[in-house]
Amino acid sequence: MSNDRSIYVPPEGPPPADPRNSEIYAIMGEENIFRLLKDFYLELERSSIRSMFPTDMAAASRKSAEFFVFLLGGPPLYQQRHGAPMMRKRHLPFRIDEQARQVWLECFRKTLIDADKKYNFPMDHLENFWVFLEKFSSWMVNTQ
Ligand code: HEM
Repeated sequence: MSNDRSIYVPPEGPPPADPRNSEIYAIMGEENIFRLLKDFYLELERSSIRSMFPTDMAAASRKSAEFFVFLLGGPPLYQQRHGAPMMRKRHLPFRIDEQARQVWLECFRKTLIDADKKYNFPMDHLENFWVFLEKFSSWMVNTQ
């Protein structure tokens, strides 16, 4: 990271966790969460922010899936394999502005279409999950 870069810190800070999201793992299970994240990374692969990500998108999707398993109420796979999440810190090497956030969210929005049929996603949780993604992705923005 170059020293001339000024890092933007969203004034609202990190969002609080919504306990309803931690009911999702019990319904979907680990395999479906991994499949959802795999498809999300396929969307990212076709998107304008593809160059931010590593060549091996399948491997990158598994790392993200480990984090989502925990977020959605499953075991702390990410922490066991990679340590403390510190997600904002881990995103700092990438210049994430509002436009990149919108592309990221759009890829997720597409992946969640028919998610009940594709991954057994509980659609009555869609709204709280989406609100979480919107807020947490705001917290990842580090560039104005
Ligand atoms: C605001 C839009 C976002 C962008 C543009 C973005 C971009 C990225 C990039 C470029 C990486 C590195 C990929 C790699 O080296 O494997 C990454 C990693 C990751 N992202 Fe995001 N991200 C965003 C939001 C989020 C959100 C909202 C979450 C979770 C809810 C998330 C979870 C993760 C996880 C778990 C990793 C793996 C971290 C690691 O261990 O290296 N990201 N993201």
